[in-house]
Amino acid sequence: MIPQEFIQSLLGRVDIVDVVDRHVKLKKTGANFSACCPFHNEKTPSFTVSPSKQFYHCFGCGVHGNAIGFLMEYSGLAYPEAIRALAETVGMPVPETRGNFRAGAAEAPGLAARMMDALTYYRAELKKSKTAIDYLKRRGLSGEIAARYGLGYAPDGWQNLEAVFTDYATAALKDTGLVIDTEAEEGKKSRRYDRFRDRVMFPILDARGNVIGFGGRVIGQGEPKYLNSPETPLFEKGRELYGLYQARRAIREASQVLVVEGYMDVVALAQHGVENAVATLGTSTTPMHVAKLLKMADNVVFCFDGDAAGRKAAWRALEISLPELADGKVVSFLFLPPEDDPDTYVRRLGKEGFLAALSQAKPLSQFLFAELVSQVDMATDEGRASFVAHAKPLIAQVQAPALGAMLRRRLAELARLAPEEIAGLMPAAPAAPRKAAPPAAKPVRKGPASSQARLLAFVLHDLVLAKAVPAEVLSGSTPEATALRALVELLHREPGLNLAQVSAHFDGSDLWATMSNALLDPLLKQAESPDFSLDAELQGAVGQILEERRASRHKELLVRVQSGTATPAEQAEYNDLWTQISAARSGNVSPEERSKL
Ligand code: UTP
Ligand code: MN
Repeated sequence: MIPQEFIQSLLGRVDIVDVVDRHVKLKKTGANFSACCPFHNEKTPSFTVSPSKQFYHCFGCGVHGNAIGFLMEYSGLAYPEAIRALAETVGMPVPETRGNFRAGAAEAPGLAARMMDALTYYRAELKKSKTAIDYLKRRGLSGEIAARYGLGYAPDGWQNLEAVFTDYATAALKDTGLVIDTEAEEGKKSRRYDRFRDRVMFPILDARGNVIGFGGRVIGQGEPKYLNSPETPLFEKGRELYGLYQARRAIREASQVLVVEGYMDVVALAQHGVENAVATLGTSTTPMHVAKLLKMADNVVFCFDGDAAGRKAAWRALEISLPELADGKVVSFLFLPPEDDPDTYVRRLGKEGFLAALSQAKPLSQFLFAELVSQVDMATDEGRASFVAHAKPLIAQVQAPALGAMLRRRLAELARLAPEEIAGLMPAAPAAPRKAAPPAAKPVRKGPASSQARLLAFVLHDLVLAKAVPAEVLSGSTPEATALRALVELLHREPGLNLAQVSAHFDGSDLWATMSNALLDPLLKQAESPDFSLDAELQGAVGQILEERRASRHKELLVRVQSGTATPAEQAEYNDLWTQISAARSGNVSPEERSKL
């Protein structure tokens, strides 16, 4: 592990403008540099690099990050590789310490190192097991692909991991999900044993290449066929996708990602040169998955098994995708023959055959209508009415304006209603909230930002503003409030940090996920213009938070005042708040409220 202090000083030393310019020619525009975004297709530059923040940001597709992040995204490097590459450019030797994990995962010290140790062990065991090697060979995998996906083998036996973890009995080991404790029974102490025994191991990696979990397959027949790590502090199934780490680069290059169901599907596809596939982890697709994938690629193809379960999973994926759709993004569905899954299919037809099938994938709109139509008798009025009733709530979720309009029109055609009649039955989706100035940014976030999110965005935009945030607005338990508090605290401790260093400090944590999302606030694009007063906006947001606070405290006290249980101090506070609130509303008092005075 590379110590955090080193990363901070590295980020203080390199210049992101040089780093980016080496790959993407930058043009000076005012205080910043700009170019056409290397991460999405565009004709006018919305990719900017700020020398003062040491941060890049694309207002078109929302990508952003520091120099390390840029190298990871652009060159497909893993976190430590990107750091090493960067350090080399400024001639800084990279120190390594073991088990000293990055900030953000601080709540799980040593967990990542333990997972890595387990992986090393499983991989070494695979090399020793002829049975496991033969099994993988029979399934058509080469040593190269096995190495690329870090495949391993957990040998038979109950406590093999004692050889890996000298503190096998420690409570902390439970957090790895690699061991199971028996229930303590009367007179018997609980015993600990390895979760994975006699299984081929598929490590699950996060975007940085850290091991966060495992899937283990029985060799041959047996139940369960796949055993997966439980959710742990490192591993949240609805968020992660198997194979994403290895597929990242291919996904970017093709701007397409295939979503399949199984570990073996991902690996077999890679074996045949289809490298842009990922799998959901034995759970159904989640909105988080879809949002993540649509951010990385313009085309998302769900490729499910040809059986009934596969069709069901596809429909579920469709439902999940509807609210995430954006014009310019294509979600489609590839249905394989009932007896196939992507693994058998690509093995049977080879890469070319698979790609040919892929090009025939059904766009979401087609799958949607075909499925709905098949459920009713479209020859009758009743059947078509029922069709409209089923389609309505689905189409209403589509926020993409053009696609939404087309789906409505198609719905009208199929139902044999006039477009106005459909419009009457289902009003057009409300315009996207608080649109930024054109060119239209992709709707990465939904709904208007809360005042606290807005405040967070302002401080991230200009870190010196941390000083201007009054302590009263820092309480609260929303993710934004928590992130804002952490950010302000950090900047009080270390006022000299730039955004690159702040991002490295929080990198990988939920706090950074929240901050990163706040940076997508379209208002920040306007903040680039000289007649935008960030200070005034900040005061506005602070004022709004304080007002919200007052209103909710007032409501709380009202209950006590009305029931006569308020202490004199509370009564005074109530009166005080009331005066402030009415002043703010300049006399807009409802009769109901007046009566309570
Ligand atoms: P499948 O049963 O389709 O497995 O389950 P597969 O990928 O084709 O596996 P092979 O080809 O027989 O080896 C698809 C996915 O569902 C999850 C796993 O993630 C698997 O890859 N699964 C399946 C489990 O988690 N547990 C199981 O017992 C079975
Ligand atoms: Mn299979």
